[in-house]
Amino acid sequence: MSEPKSDSKPNQPRPHSAEFFNEMRDYWWNADFLRLMAQRLDFTGVSSVLDVGCGVGHWTFALAGVLPASARLTGVDREDEWVRNATQRVAAAGIAQRCEFVRGDAMSLPFADSTFDLTTCQTVLIHVGDPKDAIREMMRVTRPGGMVLAVEPCNMASMGVFSSVTDTFPTEVVAATHRFHLVCQRGKRTLGLGFNSVGDLVPGMMAELGLRDLRVYMSDRATPMFPPYDRAHQQAEARQLMDWHAREHWVWDKATTRQYFLAGGGGADEFETLWTQAGRQMELEIAAIQAGTYHCGNAHITYLVAGRKA
Ligand SMILES: C[S@@+](CC[C@H](N)C(=O)[O-])C[C@H]1O[C@@H](n2cnc3c(N)ncnc32)[C@H](O)[C@@H]1O
Repeated sequence: MSEPKSDSKPNQPRPHSAEFFNEMRDYWWNADFLRLMAQRLDFTGVSSVLDVGCGVGHWTFALAGVLPASARLTGVDREDEWVRNATQRVAAAGIAQRCEFVRGDAMSLPFADSTFDLTTCQTVLIHVGDPKDAIREMMRVTRPGGMVLAVEPCNMASMGVFSSVTDTFPTEVVAATHRFHLVCQRGKRTLGLGFNSVGDLVPGMMAELGLRDLRVYMSDRATPMFPPYDRAHQQAEARQLMDWHAREHWVWDKATTRQYFLAGGGGADEFETLWTQAGRQMELEIAAIQAGTYHCGNAHITYLVAGRKA
């Protein structure tokens, strides 16, 4: 898969999540793990699927590979550009006859009650102000006995992972980096733009909303970095790091990060210090990759939470 081509005009805001649809997304899943999930969650009888907040279809593609060949997949996204892009990509992949993409809002899905056997989303609940309302809406369009499946991370967990660069950082610097992420995540949530670690809370939300037979799994995928960095995902990660550093980017761009940090209760001066520290860490990591000394196990927490509608 290649990075989606943007047809946005210069100076217009890019569509939601544009920064995240880079080549790293192609390395999110182990194919045999997805087959195991399909078996455990029993996709055999599934004939209609809705992928909510489908973006350019990364999750739709992954699912298409493990669903029965007769299953039809519909993707829905708020952004016209992603709907067009996903439509082009399934045509290029030769699976257009199984897939359709439409524009719509996760909070008010353009489908009748009880339409789908399986309603799913991947990294979408982290972007909505009220994830419980979004799950409720997914339940509405799922047929009785059908399944709701949410794939959502706890991004704070990734902050606890050490690399050969950060494992000897002073305690205060490690703690400050944690604080930087946490204050930004809380600020984003305060602004109603979603909580980047919501995966931890999804099982409880589904239970509260009355989904039954809850199953909670975690992706088994790690993306370790070690010399000589010759695996495709390692090269993609090294490119992303260099690209972020060149553009003075860190998870989000500087203005967005500042907005989240201040909304989370952080101070303007503290923000500049932490932003500089994050840039410095990237510099050290790039230098270590270039010297062939960088390594990191790169674990992530990505939950798969599934429940059946009564
Ligand atoms: C991080 S991307 C995930 C895309 C895709 N699920 C994947 O895993 O590659 C989040 C997606 O959710 C979409 N989105 C965010 N809020 C939405 C909403 N309220 N309704 C529909 N789509 C939404 C964005 O446009 C974006 O495509």
